[in-house]
Amino acid sequence: MSVIRSVVLGCGAYLPDNVVSNDDLAKRVDTSDAWIFERTGIRRRHLARDGEVTSDLALKAGEAALKAAGVGIDEIDLIVCATTTPDETFPATATRVQARLGMTRGAAFDVQAVCSGFIYGLSVADNFIRAGQSRTVLLIGAETMSRLMDWNDRTTCVLFGDGAGAVVLRAETGAGSLADRGVQNTQLYSDGRLHDLLYVDGGPSSTRTTGYLRMQGKEVFRHAVTNISAAIQASADAAGVSVSDIDWFVPHQANQRILDGTARKLGIPAAKVISTVADHGNTSAASVPLALAAAVGDGRIKRGDLVLLEAMGGGFTWGSALVRW
Ligand code: ACO
Repeated sequence: MSVIRSVVLGCGAYLPDNVVSNDDLAKRVDTSDAWIFERTGIRRRHLARDGEVTSDLALKAGEAALKAAGVGIDEIDLIVCATTTPDETFPATATRVQARLGMTRGAAFDVQAVCSGFIYGLSVADNFIRAGQSRTVLLIGAETMSRLMDWNDRTTCVLFGDGAGAVVLRAETGAGSLADRGVQNTQLYSDGRLHDLLYVDGGPSSTRTTGYLRMQGKEVFRHAVTNISAAIQASADAAGVSVSDIDWFVPHQANQRILDGTARKLGIPAAKVISTVADHGNTSAASVPLALAAAVGDGRIKRGDLVLLEAMGGGFTWGSALVRW
């Protein structure tokens, strides 16, 4: 039975050139490189400069993905931008990227699922493609999380960074089997009751301000390993494979201990888990495509590999996607 599959044609990434080390942060708040690295695996983060906004980062990652895919902007009929840090409350950051890429047809909109944004965006893009409404989609995850930080709160400001990553997806005909290239399945979940564990204490409708990120770190950690492990298992089950059949795991880069805890729980060898958290910290919706671009760029992820993407974030939201590269 032939089916439509969303095949990844190329990916790209962008990190701001302003690199801030743990030692740099220790000059601003009472912390140390040793504390941050031991608890999180983070060594440095890239922070947008004054005036550098999310659409600037998204544009650069989008251009890199189009180049890697060998696709012109005239071929794109949908831009989806996953972000929780839009340039403005409205319009969508995706429409700013659309204009700057010179795309004058089709549609562009944002998806808001915080750190799970890229997985949610991938699911949206895949559904648009499989329904026949889009043929070629530019999916971007882009964030300036530094703008949501309380820079006096050492329990949060050391964890996050800015960046962007993107992929180009195109409709291709598959046989409906696990051998098909493209997205095999996506799994999405949320539980709004867990709002208070991770949220931003502002917004246009409540305070008319942007607000600051607030988090109960230990509780988030506990839920993260449980939820992410379940989402990975759900993707494997939906495809009829065992977790050990998956070649690569590309997790949301929140914390090395969450990556290690999840891998341990599911018996995944560390060598199969792509980790870039040391270099950029938690970049929310940008982190999965940043890790993906790194592993595709250095040749680890190759055509034909079975790749599992996963994330969890505020809401809570979480999910996974299984992709034949
Ligand atoms: N530097 C030095 N000391 C610190 C810092 C810091 N940056 N932050 C907290 N501390 C102190 C605390 O004040 C506390 O001191 P006390 O014992 O005197 O009270 C001590 O360190 C231990 O604090 P805990 O919060 O218990 O530290 P924990 O081991 O839980 O680590 C962390 C904190 C790293 C936030 C951990 O809970 C975590 O990683 N949680 C997951 C959070 C996460 O990744 N969120 C991202 C968004 S969700 C997602 O993407 C999945």
